[in-house]
Amino acid sequence: MPLDPAIESGDRSHTLAPVESVAQISTLLLDTDPTLDPALARTARQAAAEGVVLLRNDGTLPLEGHRVAVFGRVQIDWFAVGYGSGGDVKVPYIWNLLAGLRDAGIQVDGELADRYASWAATHRPTFTATWGQWPHHFPEMPISAGDVAAAALRADTAVVAIGRAAGEARESVLEPGSYYLTADERALLDAVTDAFAHTVVVLDAGNVMDLSWLADYDRRIGAVLYAWQGGMEGARAVAGVLAGELAPSGKLTDTIARRYTDYPSAPNFGHPDANEYVEDVFVGYRYFETFAPERVLFPFGYGLGYTTFAVTVVDQEKDAASLRLTVEVTNTGSRAGKEVVQVYAGGPDGALGKPARALVAFAKTALLQPGERERLELTVRRDHLASYDDGGATGHRSCWVLEPGEYPVFVGTDVRSAAQVAAFHVADLHVVRRLTEVAAPVVPFERLTLGREVDGSAVIAREPVPTATALRRDRITAGLPREITPTGDRGIGLDAVGSGAASLDEFIAQLSDDELALLARGDVTMHSPLGAPGNAGVLGGVSESLRAKGVPPITTTDGPSGLRLSAYASLLPSGTALASTWNTDLVRELAALHGEEMLRKGSDVLLSPGMNIHRDPLCGRNFEYFSEDPVVTGSIAAAVVGGVQSVGVSACPKHFAANNQETNRTRNDSRVSERALREIYLRGFEICIREAKPKTLMTSYNQINGVWAHYHHDLVTTVLRDEWGYEGVVITDWWMEDAVDPDFPALRDNAYRVRAQVDVLMPGGVKTEAGPQSYADDTILESLAADDGLTRGELQRTAGNVLRLALALKPVVAARTLEG
Ligand code: BGC
Repeated sequence: MPLDPAIESGDRSHTLAPVESVAQISTLLLDTDPTLDPALARTARQAAAEGVVLLRNDGTLPLEGHRVAVFGRVQIDWFAVGYGSGGDVKVPYIWNLLAGLRDAGIQVDGELADRYASWAATHRPTFTATWGQWPHHFPEMPISAGDVAAAALRADTAVVAIGRAAGEARESVLEPGSYYLTADERALLDAVTDAFAHTVVVLDAGNVMDLSWLADYDRRIGAVLYAWQGGMEGARAVAGVLAGELAPSGKLTDTIARRYTDYPSAPNFGHPDANEYVEDVFVGYRYFETFAPERVLFPFGYGLGYTTFAVTVVDQEKDAASLRLTVEVTNTGSRAGKEVVQVYAGGPDGALGKPARALVAFAKTALLQPGERERLELTVRRDHLASYDDGGATGHRSCWVLEPGEYPVFVGTDVRSAAQVAAFHVADLHVVRRLTEVAAPVVPFERLTLGREVDGSAVIAREPVPTATALRRDRITAGLPREITPTGDRGIGLDAVGSGAASLDEFIAQLSDDELALLARGDVTMHSPLGAPGNAGVLGGVSESLRAKGVPPITTTDGPSGLRLSAYASLLPSGTALASTWNTDLVRELAALHGEEMLRKGSDVLLSPGMNIHRDPLCGRNFEYFSEDPVVTGSIAAAVVGGVQSVGVSACPKHFAANNQETNRTRNDSRVSERALREIYLRGFEICIREAKPKTLMTSYNQINGVWAHYHHDLVTTVLRDEWGYEGVVITDWWMEDAVDPDFPALRDNAYRVRAQVDVLMPGGVKTEAGPQSYADDTILESLAADDGLTRGELQRTAGNVLRLALALKPVVAARTLEG
């Protein structure tokens, strides 16, 4: 959401001040804010470098010892992050590529660099457009073929930098300058590849963009590097990789297909009202590896280094439940590097169509010197190979099942080249877990599944998606919590609960209905006076009376790439860059340092990680999210949450769930089978929640099968809390859509939301005639008093969720208050 008028007007000029040297940065840090931590910047650089994916290299890289001509205005106007709440950080500096290359000791052609610098100085990017209308690219500096040829007399290698950005409320689009190259970029590539024997292309972009043009240049482009958006240190990290000072070891977390229309989501993406997730569980590589391997340009998991590795399974231990693989990775080349070992599994044909391969485990080596080796242990749990039967095709509706047959296990360094090393054999159908139907589609559509030709080859088949049969009203009524008998104020403060002198129930029993209702709403606006200036909102102790009982005000801030506050803060690598490292230890370390910055800046809850699945390459917020794969997504998210929370503050994974496009994001309906939800869109959240136990979680704006996420009892109560054991707070994404509960007409808006255990409306102001900033809202209290309305037990349950967070964060808030 827009935060202040400057951001609303799209003014991002503060993010575009390039730096020239490390020395200048020390000065900038001191000038701007001495609380910025150089260790965080160093780790951010390391992470940005590890996230760079080298897609092609014929030996052109690294650049050390070469004379280099750098083309493309992005060398100056580097895109360090995408747009919106995930990018609006008041950043103290941003390295650009030119400065980074010079810093790395690369001999850059000065004449050309000067020309770009002076042109860029007089052609500043314009950000005058309003929220959601930011530029996808910046127009290129005109340069003649003659001038390019002249540069080729002074330098032996060309680097061409191409930049793209998208963001919140700003999808990538199928146009030149967004998904496609512009005519000017084509002309530049033509001229450069004509004149230079060696050309490197650097893609500075948050989303996957079209790369079909690479074929037109064939070997005339010697190296291609997908840099993603690495934050304030990103360009310097990329320069370090180009120079050979840092080893590339990133791997794609998305498939790069030949054409946009090859993606199975393409016909059903971007519709404003509803999108049918026809591809079902066949998202990304699950589709391509099963049905269309020839449509892949660069496979999922792929990425080169400057050295070579031998990857050998040296030991296997298997029992009925798991397979433990010991994989030895040896650096067989002549430079240092890291490698990622990836384990995939397939499944037998059966009643449920299964993808040919699905990632089940991965691990990354340390930096290995030439000749050095490391053994990695990877475990595959047989139960994790199960499929979810949402229609009863196996005879076991609403169960995770292992159908009989062989489940091959593959090990390798990308999805395509991984080779079979083992298999699980399942003799008879095995029910792994019995659940209940949740969030099933109500509008019928056909989904894709696996068929077989006579010769056994895979072919796309279609089947009707199973539709909802469960009775929501009955489920909710059966699960209503008991009421804690109100006692009135007995003088028990929250501290007494913290020290064990009183129970949480005793504390809650004292709260009036007004106080209970206040705990279910954040402070009225963003930029709450109760928190650090520029915060995204405050919850918990939002009234005098709650604060008097010891409930602290809890400050939330965006977000995934850095703290969005009025103060300066570090701009970190964005989600896709982080995930492309496949290095959970490094991500955790970075997140812990980020947590330390939260402590210094007064943020208690970081509205991060963004972890929706990259269903389609055009989704504007893909830069904030991690991958098309739920295991990568869940593991990286768990690392972020683990790191942030290790210092005592809270992370807040978002957006739960199926928030896969920005177009009409507050109203559109993600129509998706329960199977695809459970296997793909919820799976990452499940991994993150089970592993890292976030204290806070944010719902999404969209509807899931006709129900807004912030009202979704099935998702938030049945799945998140009852099945996964989540005990934290659930907050809305900023504001929500009004609606009446279809099964309980006495509940609407906030009452409808609390029933789902979406505990807190953020921020708390509601849309009334008095305007959007008003706190006047009686929907909770009215519903409490109504027949068949919200029960006090439910409101107390939500208060309990909020108060447990308050108890956990109390020491952090108290320390800040003391300092303040
Ligand atoms: C975004 C969230 C963000 C919130 C607060 C919303 O528009 O979707 O991701 O955390 O605003 O800025």
